[in-house]
Amino acid sequence: MDYLEIQGGNKLQGTVKIDGAKNAALPLIAATILAKKPLTIYNLPAVNDIFTMLTLLENLGASYTYENNQVHIDATTINNTTAIYDIVRKMRASILTLGPLLARFGICEVSLPGGCAIGQRPIDLHLKALEMMGAQIEIKQGYVIAKAPDGLRGATIVFDKITVTGTENIVMAAALAKGTSTIINAAKEPEVVQLCEVLQDAGVHIEGIGSDELVIEGTNQELINIKDFTVIPDRIEAGTYLCAGAITNSAITLEKVNHAHLVSIILKLQEMGYDFEIEKEKITIKPASRIKALKFSTTEYPGFPTDMQAQFMALSLIADGTSTIEERLFENRFMHVSELNRMGADITLNNHIATIEGNAKLYGADVMATDLRASSALVLAGLIATGTTKVHRIYHLDRGYVKLEEKLQKLGAKIKRLRE
Ligand code: EPZ
Repeated sequence: MDYLEIQGGNKLQGTVKIDGAKNAALPLIAATILAKKPLTIYNLPAVNDIFTMLTLLENLGASYTYENNQVHIDATTINNTTAIYDIVRKMRASILTLGPLLARFGICEVSLPGGCAIGQRPIDLHLKALEMMGAQIEIKQGYVIAKAPDGLRGATIVFDKITVTGTENIVMAAALAKGTSTIINAAKEPEVVQLCEVLQDAGVHIEGIGSDELVIEGTNQELINIKDFTVIPDRIEAGTYLCAGAITNSAITLEKVNHAHLVSIILKLQEMGYDFEIEKEKITIKPASRIKALKFSTTEYPGFPTDMQAQFMALSLIADGTSTIEERLFENRFMHVSELNRMGADITLNNHIATIEGNAKLYGADVMATDLRASSALVLAGLIATGTTKVHRIYHLDRGYVKLEEKLQKLGAKIKRLRE
């Protein structure tokens, strides 16, 4: 297995290009199940989760060609509606094939995704909503068996909790349902917005895009004309590099960003004392004269994203004072705490609240990645630790970050990928 070796202490400089958003691309690839003809998707990030989703669709009978961050995909040839455990276990987001497969074919079997390091990650809200649309759902031997022989029908769905992939699954199911669906308490993440916009451009009538109430007119199982499109920039990758600039107190520039998606992240960094220069698709973070401790809770978009919680925890280690972070979305998203403490951090946990002592003197150590965003937090800490940090199990990192070590090397970090 690969690991990353980092020599701490370097300032960063220069420019880094941000890739397409993994969490936008995954539902959009699943949405091609609804397409009446092949199409091309541009600005796909070359990360493992994307290839897992493409492999899953190929396993269902679709075909695709991938090169230079773009894929030409033909899902019209799908002739199998069983998403097998061996692929689904690699990536929970495989559950995003459930809604479109059921809407198009009236029957499908999708392996239960299982939990992951950050939490149990149930899909009860997805299944309850599909039942409201007329589906018969059975759980058997680890599979969701879903049937809607007469097709799905429009319904009013109220999500008890805001769920990103739950909203995405139901938006795709509603697109081919018979009649109107209203989704109340819908997720508003930019990735959900892009999925709605792509379906709207394909002729699906959707109102309320970007709000917490979506109204969707279904096509009654008529496939839709999804046009070629470009995936939005990855706001979490961008936020991670802003934290790399912040934690080394350097000036770096990010290109190909959509800063409208970064508001809560930028505001938090400004609160800590950092400055920014914002242009069209570029953003430059500039050093802070004094880095203030912060207190925040993670919440659904447009609030502070849970996917940036670990990175900000690493950053708060260098703040002047004590910070507190409340993780509100996931029950176990503090796996990086023990690893950071092994590097000399002083972080204490009380249920969902972490208390982080600032002005930490970190030293390099062997640490273990546990989930995608925790991995990047350990890399950030390694950038400022005295000595050598080795981050193991970086297959977590490779699921969601394009060439992280290469991009950081180009910014001046002393980091390399080695083999155990
Ligand atoms: C999406 O996961 C993202 N993944 C996650 O990013 C992100 O952390 C999360 O949204 C929150 O923003 C993708 O988009 C592929 P949820 P998702 O359903 O949809 C509970 C990353 O790092 N819930 O919004 O699975 C759930 O347990 C990943 O890129 C139910 O109880 O998250 C959680 O506590 C990690 N029942 C909360 O809702 C359900 O049926 C939010 O989960 C569904 C969710």
